[in-house]
Amino acid sequence: MTSTAKKILVLAGDGIGPEITAATVAVLERLRSDYGLAIDMTPGDVGGMAVDLHNDPLPPQTLEAARAADAVLFGSVGGPKWDSLPRPLRPEQGLLRLRSGLGLFCNLRPAIVHAPLAAASTLKQELVSGLDIMILRELTGDIYFGQPRGIETLADGERRGFNTMVYTASEIERIAHHAFRIARGRAGKVCSVDKANVLETMELWRDVVTEVGRQYPDVQLSHMYVDNAAMQLVRNPRQFDVILTGNIFGDILSDLASMLTGSIGMLPSASLDESGKGMYEPIHGSAPDIAGQDKANPLAMILSAAMMLRHSLKEPVHAERIERAVASVLEQGIRTADIAGPGDSPIGTRAMGEAVLTAMK
Ligand code: IPM
Ligand code: MG
Repeated sequence: MTSTAKKILVLAGDGIGPEITAATVAVLERLRSDYGLAIDMTPGDVGGMAVDLHNDPLPPQTLEAARAADAVLFGSVGGPKWDSLPRPLRPEQGLLRLRSGLGLFCNLRPAIVHAPLAAASTLKQELVSGLDIMILRELTGDIYFGQPRGIETLADGERRGFNTMVYTASEIERIAHHAFRIARGRAGKVCSVDKANVLETMELWRDVVTEVGRQYPDVQLSHMYVDNAAMQLVRNPRQFDVILTGNIFGDILSDLASMLTGSIGMLPSASLDESGKGMYEPIHGSAPDIAGQDKANPLAMILSAAMMLRHSLKEPVHAERIERAVASVLEQGIRTADIAGPGDSPIGTRAMGEAVLTAMK
């Protein structure tokens, strides 16, 4: 391995994570062996499997390796086996601590309808065909990380749970700048989603986004309350270009948007820090119900690898090679169960990975 090779830390995690990771690593390995991509992939432990091995969902050596890497490729974490552990030992904490420890505040979640899959959406095809939304989710603030938080027992013995929704102006500012810059390279529209009618944190969100927006007069800025945004996403999703939103609303709206595209198994994501270094993961979870059965759709993670090549490794040609191969597989009618229509005979994770490899030729 040459010293100029980019270092990728590969965190397969739990559930379907190892299966979709194997398919994705094979794709990257093919780019390395046949197309000259200079990368060096090493595995690491995270999530429930890391709890089993190290009693910690994010062992220090994993965080160190992530800091030293040029990019992190992440499968999925979690499962019923670990759900009743104390919160610090839950697999999800591994993911949340990685996001915060690496400063990955900028989460890009594109929701794109691939033409051959327009019929797979639960929405009418004419509403979703051609859909191309970029959800920009702030990822290191909000009620996810706000203090104080906890479950306490009151004097009368009643238990009380509490969390804190909090954003500083500078946290809102930096994600807003990203939204406007991204919109410039797209249709030039930002819709900022908040709950400014009820929450002070969101009133500040709206003020700061409006202020930042003045520096981008060429981008059209609108504001929408999150409840209305949920409704508009299923009523007329193509009205949106870039959706800028906070951590918790972005979590919810991105799952919603995934269904517009046919399957949550299709959506990749990128989580970037200030310098553009990032972690790349499918937006779906570990799907314990189908884990180990060769059923999961690996395309969201394979497309996440393409995002990694584009955003962190600055290898757009290799990224396109993956994206073209995925498009070709879909055009050929090759389907995993989650995106299969009535007449299709679905294939498994491994066969889908093989199909992508074949289509790369
Ligand atoms: C996501 C997931 C995570 C989140 C969980 C697994 C902690 O739902 O990436 O959207 O809530 O952010
Ligand atoms: Mg989520």
